[in-house]
Amino acid sequence: MKAVTKDQELRNLAYAEIQQHQKLVEADPYRLLYHLMPPVGLLNDPNGVIQWQGIYHVFYQWMPFDTDHGAKFWGHYTSTDLVNWKHEEIGLTPSEWFEKNGCYSGSAIDHEGELRLYYTGNVKDEQGERQSYQCLATSYDGSVFHKKGVVLELPDGYTAHFRDPKVWKEGSDWYMVVGAQSTDEKGMVALFHSKDGLEWSHLGAIAGSGIGSLGEFGYMWECPDLFTLNEQDLLIVSPQGLEADGLHYQNVYQAGYFIGKLDCQKAAFEHGNFTELDRGFDFYAPQTTSDDKGRRLLIGWMSVPDQNEQEHPTIKHKWIHNLTLPRELTLVNGKLFQAPAEELKELRKNQAVDAEVALSNEKIVWPGLNGKTMELELTDIDLANAQLVEIGVRDHARIIYEPAKKLFTLARKSYVDGNWEKRQCKLSSLLSLTVYLDHSSIEIFINGGEEVFSARIFPDPENETIFILADGTLKGNLKKWDL
Ligand code: FRU
Repeated sequence: MKAVTKDQELRNLAYAEIQQHQKLVEADPYRLLYHLMPPVGLLNDPNGVIQWQGIYHVFYQWMPFDTDHGAKFWGHYTSTDLVNWKHEEIGLTPSEWFEKNGCYSGSAIDHEGELRLYYTGNVKDEQGERQSYQCLATSYDGSVFHKKGVVLELPDGYTAHFRDPKVWKEGSDWYMVVGAQSTDEKGMVALFHSKDGLEWSHLGAIAGSGIGSLGEFGYMWECPDLFTLNEQDLLIVSPQGLEADGLHYQNVYQAGYFIGKLDCQKAAFEHGNFTELDRGFDFYAPQTTSDDKGRRLLIGWMSVPDQNEQEHPTIKHKWIHNLTLPRELTLVNGKLFQAPAEELKELRKNQAVDAEVALSNEKIVWPGLNGKTMELELTDIDLANAQLVEIGVRDHARIIYEPAKKLFTLARKSYVDGNWEKRQCKLSSLLSLTVYLDHSSIEIFINGGEEVFSARIFPDPENETIFILADGTLKGNLKKWDL
Protein backbone atom coordinates (compact mmCIF):
# COMPACT_ATOMS: atom_id res chain seq x y z
CA MET A 1 0.00 0.00 0.00
CA LYS A 2 1.27 3.43 -0.88
CA ALA A 3 1.75 5.67 2.13
CA VAL A 4 -0.27 8.89 2.15
CA THR A 5 2.09 11.83 1.82
CA LYS A 6 1.98 14.73 4.25
CA ASP A 7 0.77 16.92 1.38
CA GLN A 8 -2.11 14.54 0.60
CA GLU A 9 -2.98 14.25 4.27
CA LEU A 10 -3.21 18.06 4.61
CA ARG A 11 -5.28 18.31 1.43
CA ASN A 12 -7.68 15.65 2.68
CA LEU A 13 -8.06 17.44 6.00
CA ALA A 14 -8.72 20.78 4.30
CA TYR A 15 -11.28 19.32 1.89
CA ALA A 16 -12.99 17.56 4.80
CA GLU A 17 -13.13 20.89 6.62
CA ILE A 18 -14.79 22.53 3.62
CA GLN A 19 -17.35 19.76 3.43
CA GLN A 20 -18.05 19.72 7.13
CA HIS A 21 -18.81 23.44 7.35
CA GLN A 22 -20.17 24.19 3.89
CA LYS A 23 -23.78 24.58 5.03
CA LEU A 24 -22.87 26.79 7.95
CA VAL A 25 -20.62 28.98 5.78
CA GLU A 26 -23.20 29.34 3.02
CA ALA A 27 -25.98 30.16 5.49
CA ASP A 28 -24.20 33.37 6.44
CA PRO A 29 -26.14 36.42 5.20
CA TYR A 30 -22.79 38.23 5.09
CA ARG A 31 -21.36 35.83 2.48
CA LEU A 32 -20.40 37.96 -0.50
CA LEU A 33 -21.91 37.73 -3.97
CA TYR A 34 -19.03 38.75 -6.24
CA HIS A 35 -15.88 38.88 -4.12
CA LEU A 36 -13.30 36.14 -3.62
CA MET A 37 -13.63 34.49 -0.22
CA PRO A 38 -12.28 31.33 1.42
CA PRO A 39 -14.60 28.30 1.24
CA VAL A 40 -14.04 27.95 5.00
CA GLY A 41 -11.54 29.41 7.46
CA LEU A 42 -9.40 32.51 7.09
CA LEU A 43 -8.17 34.25 3.96
CA ASN A 44 -5.52 36.93 3.95
CA ASP A 45 -3.11 38.18 1.25
CA PRO A 46 -3.63 37.64 -2.47
CA ASN A 47 -0.67 35.61 -3.76
CA GLY A 48 0.70 34.60 -7.15
CA VAL A 49 -1.55 36.96 -9.07
CA ILE A 50 -0.85 36.39 -12.75
CA GLN A 51 -2.45 35.99 -16.15
CA TRP A 52 -0.88 32.78 -17.36
CA GLN A 53 -1.67 31.22 -20.74
CA GLY A 54 -4.72 33.46 -21.00
CA ILE A 55 -6.12 32.60 -17.57
CA TYR A 56 -6.06 34.83 -14.51
CA HIS A 57 -4.80 33.04 -11.40
CA VAL A 58 -5.30 34.44 -7.92
CA PHE A 59 -3.93 32.38 -5.06
CA TYR A 60 -4.53 33.45 -1.49
CA GLN A 61 -3.20 32.92 2.01
CA TRP A 62 -5.54 30.39 3.54
CA MET A 63 -5.98 28.82 6.98
CA PRO A 64 -8.62 26.13 6.37
CA PHE A 65 -8.91 24.90 9.95
CA ASP A 66 -9.57 28.08 11.86
CA THR A 67 -10.73 31.68 11.52
CA ASP A 68 -7.35 32.70 12.89
CA HIS A 69 -3.84 32.86 11.43
CA GLY A 70 -1.57 29.82 11.45
CA ALA A 71 0.18 27.42 9.09
CA LYS A 72 -1.06 28.89 5.81
CA PHE A 73 -2.01 27.03 2.65
CA TRP A 74 -2.32 28.65 -0.77
CA GLY A 75 -5.93 28.54 -1.94
CA HIS A 76 -6.43 29.04 -5.66
CA TYR A 77 -8.99 30.74 -7.93
CA THR A 78 -8.92 31.09 -11.72
CA SER A 79 -10.90 33.18 -14.18
CA THR A 80 -10.90 34.02 -17.87
CA ASP A 81 -12.66 37.36 -17.37
CA LEU A 82 -11.97 38.64 -13.81
CA VAL A 83 -15.70 38.25 -13.10
CA ASN A 84 -16.49 34.53 -13.02
CA TRP A 85 -14.09 32.66 -10.77
CA LYS A 86 -13.51 28.97 -10.31
CA HIS A 87 -12.21 27.61 -7.03
CA GLU A 88 -9.37 25.29 -7.96
CA GLU A 89 -7.57 22.47 -6.21
CA ILE A 90 -5.42 23.65 -3.32
CA GLY A 91 -2.25 25.36 -4.62
CA LEU A 92 0.21 24.67 -1.80
CA THR A 93 0.05 22.91 1.55
CA PRO A 94 2.63 23.46 4.34
CA SER A 95 3.86 19.88 4.07
CA GLU A 96 7.67 20.19 4.01
CA TRP A 97 10.17 21.00 6.79
CA PHE A 98 11.01 24.38 5.22
CA GLU A 99 7.40 25.60 5.33
CA LYS A 100 5.89 23.58 8.14
CA ASN A 101 4.42 26.66 9.85
CA GLY A 102 3.05 28.14 6.67
CA CYS A 103 3.47 28.64 2.94
CA TYR A 104 3.56 32.39 3.33
CA SER A 105 2.96 35.03 0.68
CA GLY A 106 4.66 35.20 -2.68
CA SER A 107 4.29 35.72 -6.40
CA ALA A 108 3.98 33.88 -9.72
CA ILE A 109 5.93 34.16 -12.95
CA ASP A 110 6.04 32.33 -16.27
CA HIS A 111 9.29 30.69 -17.30
CA GLU A 112 9.20 29.15 -20.76
CA GLY A 113 5.74 27.69 -20.29
CA GLU A 114 6.28 26.74 -16.68
CA LEU A 115 4.32 28.50 -13.95
CA ARG A 116 6.62 29.25 -11.06
CA LEU A 117 5.51 30.21 -7.57
CA TYR A 118 8.04 31.91 -5.32
CA TYR A 119 6.90 32.01 -1.71
CA THR A 120 8.13 32.12 1.86
CA GLY A 121 8.47 28.99 3.93
CA ASN A 122 7.73 29.95 7.52
CA VAL A 123 9.21 27.76 10.23
CA LYS A 124 9.13 27.97 14.00
CA ASP A 125 11.96 25.84 15.37
CA GLU A 126 11.94 23.89 18.66
CA GLN A 127 12.91 27.01 20.60
CA GLY A 128 9.99 28.89 19.03
CA GLU A 129 12.41 30.94 16.91
CA ARG A 130 11.24 31.96 13.44
CA GLN A 131 13.10 30.86 10.29
CA SER A 132 12.26 32.13 6.81
CA TYR A 133 13.11 30.40 3.56
CA GLN A 134 12.31 31.64 0.08
CA CYS A 135 10.98 28.65 -1.85
CA LEU A 136 9.98 27.61 -5.36
CA ALA A 137 7.16 25.43 -6.66
CA THR A 138 6.53 24.86 -10.36
CA SER A 139 3.73 23.63 -12.58
CA TYR A 140 3.11 22.89 -16.26
CA ASP A 141 -0.68 22.84 -16.01
CA GLY A 142 -1.29 25.72 -13.58
CA SER A 143 -2.95 23.34 -11.16
CA VAL A 144 -0.53 20.76 -9.77
CA PHE A 145 2.64 22.26 -8.27
CA HIS A 146 5.93 20.49 -7.63
CA LYS A 147 8.01 21.78 -4.77
CA LYS A 148 11.60 22.52 -5.66
CA GLY A 149 12.53 23.54 -2.13
CA VAL A 150 14.53 26.45 -0.80
CA VAL A 151 16.13 28.81 -3.31
CA LEU A 152 17.20 31.55 -0.91
CA GLU A 153 18.25 31.52 2.73
CA LEU A 154 18.33 34.52 5.02
CA PRO A 155 21.20 36.87 4.07
CA ASP A 156 23.20 38.80 6.68
CA GLY A 157 21.79 42.05 7.97
CA TYR A 158 18.15 41.00 8.36
CA THR A 159 16.03 39.34 11.04
CA ALA A 160 13.88 36.30 10.21
CA HIS A 161 11.04 38.71 9.39
CA PHE A 162 12.04 38.23 5.79
CA ARG A 163 9.26 37.24 3.40
CA ASP A 164 6.87 37.74 0.48
CA PRO A 165 9.14 37.45 -2.61
CA LYS A 166 7.96 39.22 -5.75
CA VAL A 167 9.88 38.09 -8.84
CA TRP A 168 10.20 39.62 -12.32
CA LYS A 169 12.44 39.22 -15.35
CA GLU A 170 14.26 41.80 -17.48
CA GLY A 171 15.69 40.02 -20.53
CA SER A 172 17.85 37.23 -19.15
CA ASP A 173 18.08 38.81 -15.70
CA TRP A 174 15.79 37.79 -12.87
CA TYR A 175 15.05 40.09 -9.94
CA MET A 176 13.32 39.52 -6.64
CA VAL A 177 12.22 41.94 -3.94
CA VAL A 178 11.61 40.63 -0.44
CA GLY A 179 9.90 42.33 2.51
CA ALA A 180 12.37 42.58 5.36
CA GLN A 181 13.41 43.85 8.73
CA SER A 182 17.02 44.91 9.29
CA THR A 183 18.82 43.60 12.37
CA ASP A 184 18.27 47.03 13.95
CA GLU A 185 14.52 46.48 13.39
CA LYS A 186 13.75 48.79 10.53
CA GLY A 187 11.36 47.90 7.72
CA MET A 188 13.15 47.34 4.38
CA VAL A 189 12.83 45.98 0.88
CA ALA A 190 15.75 43.78 -0.18
CA LEU A 191 16.67 43.26 -3.86
CA PHE A 192 18.12 40.05 -5.33
CA HIS A 193 19.44 39.06 -8.75
CA SER A 194 19.60 35.74 -10.53
CA LYS A 195 20.46 34.39 -13.97
CA ASP A 196 18.16 31.36 -13.76
CA GLY A 197 15.63 32.06 -11.00
CA LEU A 198 17.29 29.36 -8.91
CA GLU A 199 20.48 30.87 -7.51
CA TRP A 200 20.03 34.33 -6.08
CA SER A 201 22.50 36.95 -4.92
CA HIS A 202 21.75 39.84 -2.59
CA LEU A 203 22.15 43.28 -4.20
CA GLY A 204 21.11 45.27 -1.14
CA ALA A 205 18.25 47.05 0.59
CA ILE A 206 16.75 49.40 -1.99
CA ALA A 207 14.32 51.24 0.26
CA GLY A 208 13.29 51.27 3.87
CA SER A 209 12.95 53.07 7.13
CA GLY A 210 15.87 55.50 7.40
CA ILE A 211 17.12 54.87 3.84
CA GLY A 212 17.68 57.91 1.58
CA SER A 213 15.46 60.81 2.51
CA LEU A 214 12.94 58.62 4.30
CA GLY A 215 12.95 59.03 8.07
CA GLU A 216 11.69 56.47 10.57
CA PHE A 217 9.14 54.47 8.65
CA GLY A 218 8.14 51.33 10.44
CA TYR A 219 9.76 48.20 11.87
CA MET A 220 8.77 45.76 9.12
CA TRP A 221 7.79 46.11 5.45
CA GLU A 222 5.59 43.33 4.09
CA CYS A 223 4.54 42.30 0.60
CA PRO A 224 6.68 44.46 -1.72
CA ASP A 225 5.75 44.72 -5.38
CA LEU A 226 7.90 46.54 -7.94
CA PHE A 227 6.87 47.33 -11.51
CA THR A 228 7.07 49.96 -14.21
CA LEU A 229 4.10 52.05 -15.27
CA ASN A 230 4.39 54.91 -17.79
CA GLU A 231 8.18 54.69 -17.55
CA GLN A 232 8.08 55.24 -13.81
CA ASP A 233 9.08 52.58 -11.30
CA LEU A 234 6.56 51.96 -8.59
CA LEU A 235 7.18 50.21 -5.30
CA ILE A 236 4.06 49.07 -3.49
CA VAL A 237 4.64 47.92 0.05
CA SER A 238 2.81 47.31 3.34
CA PRO A 239 4.80 48.89 6.19
CA GLN A 240 4.09 48.07 9.81
CA GLY A 241 4.73 50.49 12.63
CA LEU A 242 3.66 53.87 11.22
CA GLU A 243 2.09 56.24 13.72
CA ALA A 244 -1.26 57.83 12.87
CA ASP A 245 -0.61 61.27 11.40
CA GLY A 246 -3.65 63.53 10.95
CA LEU A 247 -5.95 61.82 8.45
CA HIS A 248 -3.14 59.43 7.47
CA TYR A 249 -2.21 55.97 8.71
CA GLN A 250 -5.43 55.49 10.62
CA ASN A 251 -5.42 51.70 10.38
CA VAL A 252 -3.14 49.40 12.37
CA TYR A 253 -0.95 48.83 9.29
CA GLN A 254 -0.85 50.58 5.92
CA ALA A 255 -0.45 49.72 2.26
CA GLY A 256 0.85 52.30 -0.18
CA TYR A 257 3.37 53.16 -2.86
CA PHE A 258 6.45 55.15 -3.76
CA ILE A 259 7.13 56.42 -7.28
CA GLY A 260 10.78 56.50 -8.28
CA LYS A 261 13.63 55.11 -10.33
CA LEU A 262 15.20 51.75 -9.62
CA ASP A 263 18.90 51.32 -10.35
CA CYS A 264 19.53 47.58 -10.09
CA GLN A 265 23.31 47.96 -10.51
CA LYS A 266 23.54 50.28 -7.53
CA ALA A 267 20.71 48.53 -5.69
CA ALA A 268 19.13 51.94 -5.18
CA PHE A 269 15.60 53.21 -5.55
CA GLU A 270 15.30 56.98 -5.55
CA HIS A 271 11.75 57.80 -4.70
CA GLY A 272 9.23 60.38 -3.55
CA ASN A 273 6.77 60.23 -0.69
CA PHE A 274 4.69 57.31 0.46
CA THR A 275 1.04 57.50 -0.60
CA GLU A 276 -1.66 55.28 0.86
CA LEU A 277 -3.48 53.22 -1.75
CA ASP A 278 -6.80 53.02 0.03
CA ARG A 279 -8.30 55.35 2.62
CA GLY A 280 -10.91 52.96 4.03
CA PHE A 281 -10.87 50.61 7.00
CA ASP A 282 -10.01 47.35 5.29
CA PHE A 283 -7.17 47.12 2.83
CA TYR A 284 -3.74 45.50 3.03
CA ALA A 285 -1.06 43.45 1.26
CA PRO A 286 -2.11 44.17 -2.35
CA GLN A 287 -0.40 42.53 -5.30
CA THR A 288 -0.29 43.53 -8.96
CA THR A 289 0.19 41.86 -12.30
CA SER A 290 0.28 42.89 -15.94
CA ASP A 291 -2.07 41.32 -18.48
CA ASP A 292 -2.47 40.88 -22.23
CA LYS A 293 -4.62 44.00 -22.43
CA GLY A 294 -1.54 45.99 -21.43
CA ARG A 295 -2.99 46.77 -18.03
CA ARG A 296 -1.52 46.76 -14.55
CA LEU A 297 -4.10 45.15 -12.26
CA LEU A 298 -4.16 45.24 -8.49
CA ILE A 299 -6.02 43.11 -6.01
CA GLY A 300 -5.79 43.45 -2.23
CA TRP A 301 -6.90 41.81 0.98
CA MET A 302 -10.01 43.54 2.33
CA SER A 303 -8.83 43.63 5.91
CA VAL A 304 -5.85 44.51 8.04
CA PRO A 305 -3.96 42.03 10.23
CA ASP A 306 -4.17 42.10 14.01
CA GLN A 307 -7.41 44.04 14.06
CA ASN A 308 -10.47 42.74 15.95
CA GLU A 309 -10.56 39.41 14.16
CA GLN A 310 -12.04 37.77 17.27
CA GLU A 311 -15.04 40.08 17.06
CA HIS A 312 -15.69 39.60 13.38
CA PRO A 313 -19.37 38.82 12.69
CA THR A 314 -18.64 36.04 10.18
CA ILE A 315 -16.50 33.82 12.39
CA LYS A 316 -19.54 32.11 13.85
CA HIS A 317 -20.11 30.88 10.30
CA LYS A 318 -16.53 29.54 10.21
CA TRP A 319 -15.06 31.93 7.66
CA ILE A 320 -13.43 35.35 7.64
CA HIS A 321 -12.20 37.92 5.10
CA ASN A 322 -12.22 38.40 1.33
CA LEU A 323 -10.26 40.02 -1.47
CA THR A 324 -11.05 43.38 -3.07
CA LEU A 325 -12.34 43.77 -6.60
CA PRO A 326 -9.60 43.86 -9.24
CA ARG A 327 -8.54 47.43 -10.01
CA GLU A 328 -6.74 48.85 -13.01
CA LEU A 329 -3.83 51.15 -12.18
CA THR A 330 -2.94 54.25 -14.16
CA LEU A 331 -0.63 57.14 -13.40
CA VAL A 332 -2.26 60.56 -13.65
CA ASN A 333 -0.08 63.60 -12.93
CA GLY A 334 2.18 61.65 -10.61
CA LYS A 335 -0.65 59.97 -8.71
CA LEU A 336 -1.79 56.39 -8.95
CA PHE A 337 -5.45 56.09 -9.94
CA GLN A 338 -7.28 52.83 -9.29
CA ALA A 339 -10.43 52.16 -11.27
CA PRO A 340 -12.54 49.02 -11.09
CA ALA A 341 -11.54 46.65 -13.92
CA GLU A 342 -13.84 47.33 -16.87
CA GLU A 343 -14.96 43.67 -16.98
CA LEU A 344 -16.86 44.27 -13.74
CA LYS A 345 -19.58 45.86 -15.85
CA GLU A 346 -20.48 42.26 -16.69
CA LEU A 347 -21.81 41.96 -13.16
CA ARG A 348 -24.65 44.33 -14.00
CA LYS A 349 -28.00 42.56 -14.13
CA ASN A 350 -30.47 45.35 -14.70
CA GLN A 351 -30.31 49.09 -14.55
CA ALA A 352 -32.68 50.11 -11.79
CA VAL A 353 -31.99 53.86 -11.82
CA ASP A 354 -30.97 56.31 -14.53
CA ALA A 355 -31.92 59.82 -13.46
CA GLU A 356 -30.89 63.44 -13.26
CA VAL A 357 -31.04 64.37 -9.59
CA ALA A 358 -31.39 67.87 -8.18
CA LEU A 359 -31.75 67.96 -4.41
CA SER A 360 -32.04 71.03 -2.28
CA ASN A 361 -31.90 70.77 1.51
CA GLU A 362 -33.57 67.41 1.55
CA LYS A 363 -33.06 63.76 2.26
CA ILE A 364 -34.61 61.35 -0.17
CA VAL A 365 -34.92 57.67 -0.84
CA TRP A 366 -34.80 57.49 -4.62
CA PRO A 367 -37.17 54.95 -6.22
CA GLY A 368 -35.23 51.84 -7.21
CA LEU A 369 -32.08 52.80 -5.34
CA ASN A 370 -32.55 50.45 -2.41
CA GLY A 371 -30.81 47.09 -2.32
CA LYS A 372 -27.93 45.04 -0.98
CA THR A 373 -25.70 44.25 -3.95
CA MET A 374 -25.31 47.03 -6.46
CA GLU A 375 -23.10 49.32 -8.46
CA LEU A 376 -24.07 52.91 -7.88
CA GLU A 377 -22.70 55.76 -9.95
CA LEU A 378 -23.06 59.48 -9.41
CA THR A 379 -21.48 61.55 -12.18
CA ASP A 380 -21.45 65.17 -13.36
CA ILE A 381 -21.67 66.17 -9.72
CA ASP A 382 -22.38 69.85 -9.18
CA LEU A 383 -21.92 71.04 -5.62
CA ALA A 384 -21.66 74.77 -6.33
CA ASN A 385 -24.18 75.49 -3.58
CA ALA A 386 -23.70 72.60 -1.20
CA GLN A 387 -22.39 72.53 2.35
CA LEU A 388 -22.61 68.77 2.69
CA VAL A 389 -23.81 65.82 0.68
CA GLU A 390 -24.28 62.33 2.01
CA ILE A 391 -25.21 58.88 0.80
CA GLY A 392 -26.46 56.65 3.60
CA VAL A 393 -26.06 52.93 3.05
CA ARG A 394 -28.19 50.42 4.94
CA ASP A 395 -27.76 52.33 8.20
CA HIS A 396 -24.16 51.06 8.35
CA ALA A 397 -22.14 53.29 6.05
CA ARG A 398 -22.27 57.02 5.40
CA ILE A 399 -20.44 58.56 2.45
CA ILE A 400 -20.02 62.28 3.08
CA TYR A 401 -18.40 65.14 1.22
CA GLU A 402 -18.04 68.68 2.57
CA PRO A 403 -16.92 71.01 -0.26
CA ALA A 404 -15.88 73.96 1.92
CA LYS A 405 -13.63 71.72 4.03
CA LYS A 406 -12.59 69.72 0.96
CA LEU A 407 -13.12 66.69 3.13
CA PHE A 408 -14.35 63.24 2.14
CA THR A 409 -15.56 60.87 4.86
CA LEU A 410 -16.55 57.24 5.02
CA ALA A 411 -18.21 56.47 8.33
CA ARG A 412 -19.28 52.97 9.29
CA LYS A 413 -20.92 51.38 12.29
CA SER A 414 -18.19 49.46 14.07
CA TYR A 415 -18.75 45.73 14.20
CA VAL A 416 -17.04 45.73 17.59
CA ASP A 417 -19.17 48.21 19.56
CA GLY A 418 -21.79 49.57 17.12
CA ASN A 419 -20.44 53.12 17.33
CA TRP A 420 -19.83 55.17 14.21
CA GLU A 421 -16.15 55.33 13.25
CA LYS A 422 -14.65 57.20 10.31
CA ARG A 423 -11.86 57.36 7.77
CA GLN A 424 -11.27 60.56 5.84
CA CYS A 425 -9.16 62.19 3.18
CA LYS A 426 -8.69 65.63 1.73
CA LEU A 427 -10.29 65.95 -1.69
CA SER A 428 -10.22 69.18 -3.67
CA SER A 429 -13.39 68.43 -5.60
CA LEU A 430 -15.92 65.65 -5.92
CA LEU A 431 -16.74 65.02 -9.57
CA SER A 432 -17.87 61.41 -9.63
CA LEU A 433 -18.45 58.42 -7.40
CA THR A 434 -18.66 54.72 -8.17
CA VAL A 435 -19.77 52.52 -5.30
CA TYR A 436 -19.75 48.73 -5.28
CA LEU A 437 -21.91 47.28 -2.59
CA ASP A 438 -21.88 43.60 -1.69
CA HIS A 439 -23.68 41.91 1.24
CA SER A 440 -21.02 42.97 3.73
CA SER A 441 -18.58 45.17 1.83
CA ILE A 442 -18.36 48.58 0.24
CA GLU A 443 -15.76 49.91 -2.22
CA ILE A 444 -15.90 53.57 -3.20
CA PHE A 445 -13.99 54.89 -6.22
CA ILE A 446 -13.80 58.69 -6.22
CA ASN A 447 -13.19 60.78 -9.36
CA GLY A 448 -12.35 57.76 -11.50
CA GLY A 449 -10.07 56.24 -8.87
CA GLU A 450 -8.18 59.26 -7.52
CA GLU A 451 -9.03 57.96 -4.05
CA VAL A 452 -10.51 54.63 -2.99
CA PHE A 453 -12.16 53.60 0.27
CA SER A 454 -12.72 49.90 1.02
CA ALA A 455 -14.52 48.56 4.06
CA ARG A 456 -16.45 45.66 5.46
CA ILE A 457 -19.86 46.59 6.83
CA PHE A 458 -22.35 44.39 8.62
CA PRO A 459 -25.84 45.85 8.25
CA ASP A 460 -29.04 44.19 9.35
CA PRO A 461 -29.48 41.67 6.51
CA GLU A 462 -33.07 42.89 6.01
CA ASN A 463 -32.10 46.55 5.68
CA GLU A 464 -31.93 47.75 2.07
CA THR A 465 -32.31 51.48 2.55
CA ILE A 466 -30.09 53.86 0.64
CA PHE A 467 -30.71 57.57 1.04
CA ILE A 468 -29.22 60.72 -0.44
CA LEU A 469 -29.03 63.91 1.53
CA ALA A 470 -28.11 67.41 0.44
CA ASP A 471 -27.43 70.30 2.77
CA GLY A 472 -27.59 72.99 0.08
CA THR A 473 -27.90 71.87 -3.53
CA LEU A 474 -26.70 68.66 -5.16
CA LYS A 475 -27.05 68.05 -8.87
CA GLY A 476 -25.84 65.02 -10.72
CA ASN A 477 -26.52 62.01 -12.80
CA LEU A 478 -27.50 58.96 -10.79
CA LYS A 479 -27.29 55.40 -12.07
CA LYS A 480 -27.72 52.14 -10.28
CA TRP A 481 -27.37 48.57 -11.45
CA ASP A 482 -28.46 45.55 -9.45
CA LEU A 483 -25.66 43.00 -9.34
C1 FRU B 1 0.81 40.00 5.34
C2 FRU B 1 1.51 38.78 5.84
C3 FRU B 1 2.75 38.44 5.01
C4 FRU B 1 2.92 36.98 5.26
C5 FRU B 1 1.49 36.50 5.32
C6 FRU B 1 1.25 35.35 6.26
O1 FRU B 1 -0.53 40.04 5.72
O2 FRU B 1 1.87 38.92 7.21
O3 FRU B 1 3.88 39.20 5.33
O4 FRU B 1 3.63 36.33 4.25
O5 FRU B 1 0.71 37.61 5.73
O6 FRU B 1 -0.05 34.87 6.15
